[in-house]
Amino acid sequence: MLKIMICGRGGSGKSTLVTLLARALAERGKVLVVDTDESNLGLDKMLGLSTPAMTLMGCLGGKPAVREKLLASLQQKGSENTGFFTEDLSLASLPPECTGGEWPLRFLRIGKIERSLEGCACPMGAVARSFLKQLRVDQDEWVLVDTEAGVEHFGRGVVEGVDLVVMVVDPSHEAVLLAGRARALAAGVGKEFVAVLNKVDAVTEPFLRRELSEKGIPVRGAFGFSPEITKANLVGNPLPAGNYREQVKELLASLAI
Ligand SMILES: Nc1ncnc2c1ncn2[C@@H]1O[C@H](COP(=O)(O)OP(=O)(O)OP(=O)(O)O)[C@@H](O)[C@H]1O
Ligand SMILES: [Mg+2]
Repeated sequence: MLKIMICGRGGSGKSTLVTLLARALAERGKVLVVDTDESNLGLDKMLGLSTPAMTLMGCLGGKPAVREKLLASLQQKGSENTGFFTEDLSLASLPPECTGGEWPLRFLRIGKIERSLEGCACPMGAVARSFLKQLRVDQDEWVLVDTEAGVEHFGRGVVEGVDLVVMVVDPSHEAVLLAGRARALAAGVGKEFVAVLNKVDAVTEPFLRRELSEKGIPVRGAFGFSPEITKANLVGNPLPAGNYREQVKELLASLAI
């Protein structure tokens, strides 16, 4: 029933958390994982799903066609905020060539950087923004949005189409600073914002909880360091199915899901 965006700094564990949540929610209903990261390539492997034949950008005619539409919108309306999708979309109406996996768990890629000198990733952001804004979810359906590192997706407006922002915070000062910035950005568009700690231990967890509490950021879950996760990612295997089952259950309960 929710569209949830997972954000955080580079390597904090965004894609790992997306995978753990996707597995757990797929036991309760339908889950679409939307990969908005224009660089990283391995999320389908982490999920154990097939790579979709096309990206969503490919289904819209490719990056040049999308960029042309953006430029036309800029000239006509003075804004790049263009609707690539003007009617409501549902999980049932997604183009099959753009999705991998089978229900209850499917995977969609917005677009990837494929050539040197092809230009910036703004067209991917614009497609993601329009797609998520028009995508409607029913009871027992969830959309999990994996993002690139940092806060670019706030600037591009991808955040507009989601209901909840979950920030992954790993043990570093930079992650805490970024959480403060992301919280303010989420508040600016009226989105609920919570944090989940990752790769923490008995020393780093209480420290981060204190730091985030001082910034008024609620912490909804915490994951320790798992050698099984490192190993699966090292060789490109799906994440082990049972990993963190209890912690994910607790996290979902504390998010009232
Ligand atoms: N709880 C954990 N225990 C052990 N290793 C972890 C854990 N979470 C993530 N990792 C490892 O950290 C690395 C980064 O994880 P992941 O790809 O999920 O991060 P990310 O935030 O999506 O990165 P990026 O910014 O590149 O998209 C991976 O090698 C992964 O195996
Ligand atoms: Mg990632």
